[in-house]
Amino acid sequence: MKILVTGGLGFIGSHTVVELLNSNYDVIIADNLYNSKEEVLEKLEKIAGKKIKLYKYDLKDKSKVDKIFETEKDIEAVIHFAGYKAVGESVKKPLMYYSNNLISTTNLLEVMQKYNVRKFIFSSSATVYGDNGEIKYVETMGRGETTSPYGTTKAMIEKILEDLYFSDNSWNITLLRYFNPVGAHESGLIGEEPNGIPNNLMPYVMKVASGKLETLSIFGNDYPTIDGTGVRDYIHVVDLAKGHVKALQNAPDGLNTYNLGSGKGVSVLELITTFEKVNNIKLNYKIVDRRPGDLPEYFADATKALKELNWKTEKTIEDICRDSWNYEKNLEK
Ligand code: UFG
Repeated sequence: MKILVTGGLGFIGSHTVVELLNSNYDVIIADNLYNSKEEVLEKLEKIAGKKIKLYKYDLKDKSKVDKIFETEKDIEAVIHFAGYKAVGESVKKPLMYYSNNLISTTNLLEVMQKYNVRKFIFSSSATVYGDNGEIKYVETMGRGETTSPYGTTKAMIEKILEDLYFSDNSWNITLLRYFNPVGAHESGLIGEEPNGIPNNLMPYVMKVASGKLETLSIFGNDYPTIDGTGVRDYIHVVDLAKGHVKALQNAPDGLNTYNLGSGKGVSVLELITTFEKVNNIKLNYKIVDRRPGDLPEYFADATKALKELNWKTEKTIEDICRDSWNYEKNLEK
């Protein structure tokens, strides 16, 4: 079965390509290299021991999307990761986010319709639940008010996909809502490599651990949580990648939505302490003010994915800390 993975050289996309190849799917990648590097392709080929076809195309150009489907002929499903994803940048450049994320998605869907490819898996986010006063997010809660243009593009695309499905029930659409993806492949060859100074916790921890940045700022220690710091559901990217394979194999026909998370909340301080212990490294950190827009605590109710997809996370917070550091150390070499 041939699968088109858009954004297949990015953080989550690349790990998903590995798991798809491990499960003997035929994979082709579309990636415009906006937020990824071409050398990831060689690393993927090394891990998988197979050649992988890359279309260096921008999905905003519909004729290019058409060309992929015309050339490949027998694509059976699309896993759509490609999109801009920096929360802070999206607040500053909303139009860039709306036009890129929405146009590339509708182009893809229109071309799929033309070539009669009706299986679509969308890379969504727990951010679509918005600020709703709940701590444990369950799929039945529905979407809330999003807090960034990035989050709004995810919510809008979910809505577009729902409208599409209601117009034509022959589509099979799976919305996967990720919690906080972190970690790296155990080979140390692929992982997360944000441009510039990282905004997210784990990439920032890596830069402090490797001495590239001096001090980690903890955004607030006066939240109503276990130790006052923010609590999130961190999910190892390899577990997340396997969730996509399970969705491909086990999602029932129709339109289905799943949380992909561990079901467990971990505080910033707990993550730091685990990282220090597992890797035997001391991290410099200081407490600063809360970051605007951050919620105190949320994590996944992941029971639906277990029941319907037969998927759950297998890796621990210790694995996450070990594999992230292993990847970062490899970068130094
Ligand atoms: N944090 C720090 N210091 C840092 C970075 C983060 O203390 O330098 C804290 C945050 O306050 C939060 C936790 O670490 O409590 C996690 O923050 P991240 O930035 O790593 O992740 P977020 O939960 O804020 O972001 C995630 C996803 C986004 C999504 C967003 C909103 O990465 O894609 O949730 O739900 F949009």
